[in-house]
Amino acid sequence: MQKKIRWGILGCGHIAKKFAADMKYVEGAELIAAGARSRASADAFAKEFGIPHSHGSYDALVNDPEVDVIYVATPHGLHHEHVLLCLQHHKAVLCEKALAINSKQVEEMVAMARQEKVFLMEAFWSKFTPQYHIMQQMLVDGSLGKIQSMLVDFGFAAEQPYPDRLYDVDLGGGTLLDIGIYNVFYVLSVMGRPDRIEAHMTPANTGVDKQCAATFIYNNDSFAQLFSTFSSNLATEADICGDKGRLRLGPRFYNPTTAVIEYYPGRVDSKQIIPCHQERGFGYQYEARHVCDCLRKGLIESPIMSHADSLLLMETLDRIRKEAGIRYPVD
Ligand SMILES: NC(=O)c1ccc[n+]([C@@H]2O[C@H](COP(=O)([O-])OP(=O)(O)OC[C@H]3O[C@@H](n4cnc5c(N)ncnc54)[C@H](OP(=O)(O)O)[C@@H]3O)[C@@H](O)[C@H]2O)c1
Repeated sequence: MQKKIRWGILGCGHIAKKFAADMKYVEGAELIAAGARSRASADAFAKEFGIPHSHGSYDALVNDPEVDVIYVATPHGLHHEHVLLCLQHHKAVLCEKALAINSKQVEEMVAMARQEKVFLMEAFWSKFTPQYHIMQQMLVDGSLGKIQSMLVDFGFAAEQPYPDRLYDVDLGGGTLLDIGIYNVFYVLSVMGRPDRIEAHMTPANTGVDKQCAATFIYNNDSFAQLFSTFSSNLATEADICGDKGRLRLGPRFYNPTTAVIEYYPGRVDSKQIIPCHQERGFGYQYEARHVCDCLRKGLIESPIMSHADSLLLMETLDRIRKEAGIRYPVD
């Protein structure tokens, strides 16, 4: 019989609720503990999801001897502190994106995981979905030909009054680290590390980026354009354009219900709509299952979302921020 993996959640906010709801689809796993800054928050969360252990501080959660792995679901400005706290207590970690604010923080987190020999993975959930595999398959089998360009956008008109996290400079607010990170992740997945980056932003009154536009330039003459905004509702689509065809993911390219491939003239099957099968739930169960598999194998790093993947992602975000002039107090 496979070992049951016992999960705790650190920070009982918006995304923690979705993740907790999806845990019922993760075989061989049990959500046994919730930890919050206050007893009231932890108790309410534990009651809503039928979680047996409720902790009124993060310290109490990481000292719970029955917990194997902790899902860190606080705002990304706090991930560095909270992940180190978990690792120091020998708890495996699945931490929400963005893994931290800058590369220095990610390097310290990875170094701690390796030193303590404890599992650490960034919760880049899209990479574990069936849709992502469809995209990867098309790139591998050459259906699109040589990739020439990508256009990716992610935007929504943030509700008023703004939730603190989105605009708070200490919590890592701004579009780039919150939603633009998906654009960057997809372009890196398809086209790799850019040779040059140009980027611009419009600041919110807190100094974080309210909009961010970046161009990735490659020495092989290909380009990618990435745009994120909190000011308007965008299509939130990704166009991956090769010299034989174009793949359109979206809306919600990071978890689409369909992928459309359009081949250039000369083919009878010039347009195909590929339905993306998805299980019930929000889609967070795939990454949680993968973490359970890794822990059963005694790994400290995921072979799918590796430490190197997180370091490249953060290094690229740092490069965009440098070009666009987006700074955080911890930089
Ligand atoms: N994968 C996805 O699809 C997805 C979607 C949305 C967000 N995210 C990521 O998930 C993380 C959390 O986002 P969220 O929207 O869930 O955030 P949120 O609801 O605003 O906050 C999450 C929780 O963090 C805890 N927290 C600890 N210190 C805090 C502080 N100083 N200020 C505010 N909250 C504090 C609070 O929980 P307690 O009071 O209970 O301790 C709060 O409820 C972010 O890194 C974000 O990028 C991922």
